[in-house]
Amino acid sequence: MRNLLILLVCMTVVTGTAAVSSQDQPLRELAEAHGIYIGAAAQSDLLEGDYAGVLSREFNLLTTEWETKMCVTHPTPSTYDFERTDKLLAFADEHQMIVRGHTLLWHECFPDWLASGDYTREEAIDIMREYIHTVVERYKGRIAIWDVVNEGITDNGLFRSTPWYRMIGEDYIDLAFRFTHEADPDALLFYNDYGAEVLNRKSDAVYELVSELVENDVPIHGVGLQMHLQVGDVGDGRYINREAVTENINRLGDLGLQVHLTELDFKHPGKADESVFERQARDYREVVEICLAAEPCTAIIVWGVTDLYSWRKSFDNNPDAAPLLFDENYQPKPAYTAVQQALAEFTPEDDPA
Ligand code: XIL
Repeated sequence: MRNLLILLVCMTVVTGTAAVSSQDQPLRELAEAHGIYIGAAAQSDLLEGDYAGVLSREFNLLTTEWETKMCVTHPTPSTYDFERTDKLLAFADEHQMIVRGHTLLWHECFPDWLASGDYTREEAIDIMREYIHTVVERYKGRIAIWDVVNEGITDNGLFRSTPWYRMIGEDYIDLAFRFTHEADPDALLFYNDYGAEVLNRKSDAVYELVSELVENDVPIHGVGLQMHLQVGDVGDGRYINREAVTENINRLGDLGLQVHLTELDFKHPGKADESVFERQARDYREVVEICLAAEPCTAIIVWGVTDLYSWRKSFDNNPDAAPLLFDENYQPKPAYTAVQQALAEFTPEDDPA
């Protein structure tokens, strides 16, 4: 069935005679034909007008960009705040989108009260247990996928010295996955990181970490590769070369894990001209093709809906940053067309399903 759908899409593109061509087809329909998710990081205070229109039309998954980070959900020792996450979930329900909860444990957006407290290991474990149970149980059956731990490994392949690590020790990761699974046994649980896309010290350490978790029967179901990239990063001899990424994805797959490309975007210096946008489009296309060709890769998520609200503007201090698929007026960029074509034209023979 999956292959038949793909074949129909391809015939439509080639003949151009049928009513539906890839040009009319939203990304989510094209992705569904491959059995993968296509998602975007979303912000709860923007869910109207063009933003809501593009998000719901093109994507079948949304990631909570900010709203489920700990400093937002658990701002004081005795309070929780779910208002913003609730808004995103209502939107996702209305538009039949699956939700990735991002992220339970991270060294950023770490609440001040916890950072400044003086807790013993046992106290910290109790706090973590209560926090994870409260958040994950509230969204049981609704947030289908959780990034349980974000960015726990350094570029040198060591445990990052996060507040959780300092309070609890190495097994904070193990405990976090177990608590999340207790709270929602059906949720898919991911370890997520950047700079671990190819074969390097960091991805080796991530591989080692998740291998141990799997070996110890810790409930983990996937690894998120963030893919915050730069225009020109993709191709032979470049950072993202097909062979290395594929090998990395497949070795994780061999452990029984899924891989999601969780935060894809392509930055560039200054203001992008046409040639930068063309190169960006090629880069996007190749990343999509890499995922489609690798069986363990089951989701591609871009880190935002429109260039207008990309985190890159402030993070890189570049007001002209345009790293995403839609421009500031919600018009599709060459990158959008490239992703659309990659999804439409990927042939069934290449499809691992
Ligand atoms: C960023 C969000 O996009 C911003 O809105 C927020 O201010 C800071 O965090 N890696 C991650 C994401 O895992 O959580 C970060 O998101 C981007 C880098």
